[in-house]
Amino acid sequence: MSGRGHLPRQPGSTMPTEPLPLRFKRLYGREPQLYQAPGRVNLIGEHTDYNDGFVMPAAIGLLTTVAIAPRTDRVLQIHSMNFGESVDFTLPDIGAAAPRAHERAHWSDYVCGVAVTLEAGGHRLGGADIAVFGEVPIGSGLSSSAALEVAAGYALLETAGHLVDRVELAKLCQRAENEYVGMRCGIMDQFAASCARQGSAILLDCRSLQHRWLALPGEAGEPGRLQGDGAGASLVVCNTMVRHQLALGEYNLRREECEEAVRVLAHDIPAVRALRDVNRADLERHGTALREVVYRRARHVVTENDRVLAAAVALEQGDLPAFGRLLGESHRSLRDDFEVSCDELDLMVRLAGECAGVYGARMTGGGFGGCTVNLVDADRVDEFRRSIVAGYKKLTGLTPEINVCSTAGGAGRV
Ligand code: GLA
Repeated sequence: MSGRGHLPRQPGSTMPTEPLPLRFKRLYGREPQLYQAPGRVNLIGEHTDYNDGFVMPAAIGLLTTVAIAPRTDRVLQIHSMNFGESVDFTLPDIGAAAPRAHERAHWSDYVCGVAVTLEAGGHRLGGADIAVFGEVPIGSGLSSSAALEVAAGYALLETAGHLVDRVELAKLCQRAENEYVGMRCGIMDQFAASCARQGSAILLDCRSLQHRWLALPGEAGEPGRLQGDGAGASLVVCNTMVRHQLALGEYNLRREECEEAVRVLAHDIPAVRALRDVNRADLERHGTALREVVYRRARHVVTENDRVLAAAVALEQGDLPAFGRLLGESHRSLRDDFEVSCDELDLMVRLAGECAGVYGARMTGGGFGGCTVNLVDADRVDEFRRSIVAGYKKLTGLTPEINVCSTAGGAGRV
């Protein structure tokens, strides 16, 4: 397998060269207040959020920290420790046209976009000195962008004296990413970063935003463990260390294909507003009206929604083999019907399937690189790690990062 077509891995998981508060003090000569938000791993329910469907993310113990102190003007001075770079941004006058999505894809867009969107949502802000450091590896499918947006949003709101409504914060951060960054993402990542609970996954209905907590038993701060027979199981995240260039364009294209499916199906079934409203029988009956590729996109979303609900039941019943099988089905559907996997993710899932003690594995997040999520017998995690590292390195030349996940709570003041 060649390494061509990848973006070089960007900094993000590197250790900070000095503690963030110290860097802040050196840059701005005063003490900051700190805020944090977590990355997330999605257990199941991929590319369903923007179809009004169901997802099951858990926040993980990889955090983005924002250090902040207010200024008296309308300037945001923002420094990233990951990129060793500073940006100045003046908050536009209220009533000025909202800045449009631009192609820069610069790290500071996530902070500036959130600030502009919070103001557009009626939350007047002031200027601030800001420094950020993120532990979530960038481009790994663990949602480094939502962690930055939500941590920055929380920090900006509190610094300006506003009370934070977590659901509202998640919605505004999603809007910032849609409108300012130009990624037409759903609500899953921002909701998890803002509202998560340590020790639990969230079963989230992305239409109503109603949710149910699914316990992932384990000591606070310890790797999340799912009870089953024997020693239980651990959630393990394997990073392919690649991120393909097509991710953003293909993501928005998938969303358009889903919208096309809805438009066509709504001719025959007027109650259909999103793929959430379509069941398997509807799809069989009316699917011939769809282009072949659009039919497969719709089939992924319809079957994935069913899998999420079945996975929630399996988790609540402690039926890990059933949960694991659903992970495998989800991966195949993402690979064959939704076509958002890649060689490296497929290889990582195949290698996991060859290890003893693995209940199931799948790609997690938007796809085209990034991570897999694996449910592994707690007793066999070390063995799993060794065989994945050896097998993946042999076939790709890349050394994967393997993380036994600990869970985290949502954003807040440190
Ligand atoms: C990205 C997006 C999410 C979601 C996933 C795929 O992480 O930000 O909204 O659509 O991809 O499930």
